[in-house]
Amino acid sequence: MKIQVADLEFEPFIASDEIAKRVRVIGEQLNVDYKHTIPLFIGVLNGSFIFIADLVKHVTIPCEITFTKLASYYGGLSSTGKIRDDFDLNVNIEGRHIILIEDIVETGNTLNYLIDKLEVRKPASISVCTLLLKKSELKTPIVELKYTGFEIDNDYVIGYGLDYHELGRNLKEIYRKVSE
Ligand code: IMP
Repeated sequence: MKIQVADLEFEPFIASDEIAKRVRVIGEQLNVDYKHTIPLFIGVLNGSFIFIADLVKHVTIPCEITFTKLASYYGGLSSTGKIRDDFDLNVNIEGRHIILIEDIVETGNTLNYLIDKLEVRKPASISVCTLLLKKSELKTPIVELKYTGFEIDNDYVIGYGLDYHELGRNLKEIYRKVSE
C-alpha cells in the first residue's frame, strides 16, 4: 500500500521478513569473521538505530556497542556534501576492531569522513556494515565496506530507521519514493 510522508508518496520496497533474513545472515557472518576478538560496534546515528539493534541480537561473540552521530543530509532528498558532527565517541578505540554500522551509503562522503576521523585514533581494524548501498552513486570504492544488506538503485528510501524530513524512521519495512 502506498503511503504519504510529508509532501511525498512512497511505496513498499523491502519487506520486514526479507530485512530480518538478511540481517540474520550478516550477524552470523560477523560471528565467524570476528571470532577470537571483542569487536566494538559503532552505530552511526540516527539512521542505524533499528538496524544495529536487530543485528547485534544475532551476534553471539562478546562485543561492545557504542554510537556516534553525524548528519550529512539536512532533511532533503539529496546530499548537501556537508557533514555535521553531532556527537563524538567517548571510547578509546586504540587497538580495537571496529565495525561501523550505517543505514545507507550513497556517495560515501559521510563514511569516508568518519573513517578518516577514526583512523588517526589507531584502531586495530575498521570494517563497515551498511544495510543499504546505492552502488551507482559511490564516488570511490571504500575498501572497509565489507558487509552490505541490499544494493539498491538511486531511489529515495525511508523506513527501518531511515527518514524523510525526520519522518518514517518508525516504519517496519523499507519504502521507496514513487517516481513521478
Ligand atoms: P553519503 O554521504 O552520500 O554516502 O550519504 C549517506 C547519508 O545520506 C546517510 O547516512 C543518510 O543519512 C542519507 N541518505 C542517503 N540516501 C538516503 C535515502 O534514500 N533515504 C534517507 N537518507 C538517505
